[in-house]
Amino acid sequence: MCGIVGYIGHRDASSVVLEGLKKLEYRGYDSAGLALYDGEILKVTKTKGKVSALENKLQNSGNTDGSIGIGHTRWATHGVPNDENSHPHYSNSGELVIIHNGIIENYDSIRKELTKRGYQFKSDTDTEVLVNLIEEIQNKTNLKLGESVQLALKEVVGAYAIAVFDVKKPNEIVVAKLGSPLAIGIGTNEYFIGSDASPFLEYTNKAIYLEDGQVASIRLNKSIKIWEIDNNRPIPVLVQELKMSLEATEKGGYEHFMLKEIYEQPNAIKDTYRGRLLINEKLIKMAGVEENLERFTNADRIIIVACGTSWHAGLVAEYIIEDLTRIPVEVEYASEFRYRNPIITSKDVIIAISQSGETADTLAAIKLAKQNGAFVFGVCNVVGSTIARETNAGAYTHAGPEIGVASTKAFTTQITVLTLIALKLGLAKKTIDNNTFLRLISELNEIPEKLIKTLNCNNTALDIAKVYKNSTNCLFLGRGYNFPVALEGALKLKEISYIHAEGYPAAEMKHGPIALIDENMPIVVVAINKGHYEKTVSNIQEIKARKGKVIAIVTEGDITVKELADHVIEIPETLETLSPLLTTIPLQLFSYHTAVLLNKNVDQPRNLAKSVTVE
Ligand code: G6P
Repeated sequence: MCGIVGYIGHRDASSVVLEGLKKLEYRGYDSAGLALYDGEILKVTKTKGKVSALENKLQNSGNTDGSIGIGHTRWATHGVPNDENSHPHYSNSGELVIIHNGIIENYDSIRKELTKRGYQFKSDTDTEVLVNLIEEIQNKTNLKLGESVQLALKEVVGAYAIAVFDVKKPNEIVVAKLGSPLAIGIGTNEYFIGSDASPFLEYTNKAIYLEDGQVASIRLNKSIKIWEIDNNRPIPVLVQELKMSLEATEKGGYEHFMLKEIYEQPNAIKDTYRGRLLINEKLIKMAGVEENLERFTNADRIIIVACGTSWHAGLVAEYIIEDLTRIPVEVEYASEFRYRNPIITSKDVIIAISQSGETADTLAAIKLAKQNGAFVFGVCNVVGSTIARETNAGAYTHAGPEIGVASTKAFTTQITVLTLIALKLGLAKKTIDNNTFLRLISELNEIPEKLIKTLNCNNTALDIAKVYKNSTNCLFLGRGYNFPVALEGALKLKEISYIHAEGYPAAEMKHGPIALIDENMPIVVVAINKGHYEKTVSNIQEIKARKGKVIAIVTEGDITVKELADHVIEIPETLETLSPLLTTIPLQLFSYHTAVLLNKNVDQPRNLAKSVTVE
């Protein structure tokens, strides 16, 4: 989703902004641009395509001077991706310049009004409308930039994180936020702006996170002023000290972020349960759950809301939570839940799962649930993200920054957190006995080691990818806890390799997908020795009878499936409840290698965004 960067200070703004845009590439985008002002001319350079294309264009134009600059990576909403629709946009006078992440829903009516008053528009975007609305207000009222932005925002409906400056007063950047994230970095006599802190972490670890409905004036050599858009109320400035390291956001020797993140999973899982799973004390400590234990144990049901991979983690959690706590669980796509007038009561607990903590639909689902009196618990990865702040309580996944657009370590760490919650509740509700609890926590403690062993399948996954990289379709099958793993495997493959893939419960194959099977169809089957193993073996026989190609994920030492399947990948023996943490790994690697062999952009697949901050 769009990324915004800004700088005002003593450095060369073009390189700060360009490098910042590179740090935000993970969000997914289709065009990029930046505006610089050197005290004389406003220079706007923008292009469809990657930040590297912008960098070349900038170098060729020589438009690199300036101590104030704003930059943008655009993920098209209004208007196709092209140079003209790329941000920054400037006003008709050429004096105000803006970048924007979000959507102005009523832009069309505002555009018509402005057109009547003589404004002209070069692009199809809602953003160009907004910057001209600000200019119109400034001209009419003679107010300062901050107040003009505030008045304009009172007229718009939608979501935004914006940064604006005025070449007549080039010591100030005005920012505002509603629904999309915005962070301000504070250096010595310099300020930075970012959709998150990554564009400025190498310069400062001091940051302010703007809240929804706030506008801020950032002036050089002056302190930052923040106030509320609706009522002018001044807001005390709260500066946070960030603990993330820049190194953690870089590739660390791996060819792609995705591969690095796949390999980080043993540690990410350990980091996620560290301090929570106290193996010697034989207990689980989770403040957010403990403080609200009664809400959980008295819940009539748990509703999980999420999107994408996080939704798949929710499906795995449904199996685990129902099994261990006997609390009914429903798993909802946040986008469906929020629009379908769902039944929500104060006896419901909502668990919102989100890596980024910024997904617009998940956020809206949370707000709806809260309005209806439900208790909302967040499972997020990004500390301080909007969802983490909007929920009543929560638990972070501690996976570290996930940069690859296709989610990997976020998925397994989400399952880890949800397993810990289920175990804690199961013990509290006495729906599991102490022995079951001990067996599960001791096995969870072993998972990082078993995951390291599982990663040894990397070369086999590569070999299999070589065989099937030119397939046009692929089927993923699994049962029980591993049915959501099949869905996630299919999602990974289609996201990054653009091969059509579908995940199915193995037994459902007979009700449709079986018609597709022939000698050209690869079918990945999770067939570990737990659950309904024999039934899965029968499914494999059904596939082989139709000449389909079987790639089976089996438990080490398996004999039966090995004889039937075309390829096998072994995972260490584990409990069925925890098996998704291991069975997922070969599927991630298979997708990764397929996409690399096909020369696809693994970390930034086309049309996808890491953080989907629009509906
Ligand atoms: C996008 C990302 C997915 C992610 C989904 C939900 O589609 O590309 O990887 O699973 O959003 O994001 P969230 O941050 O809420 O988990």
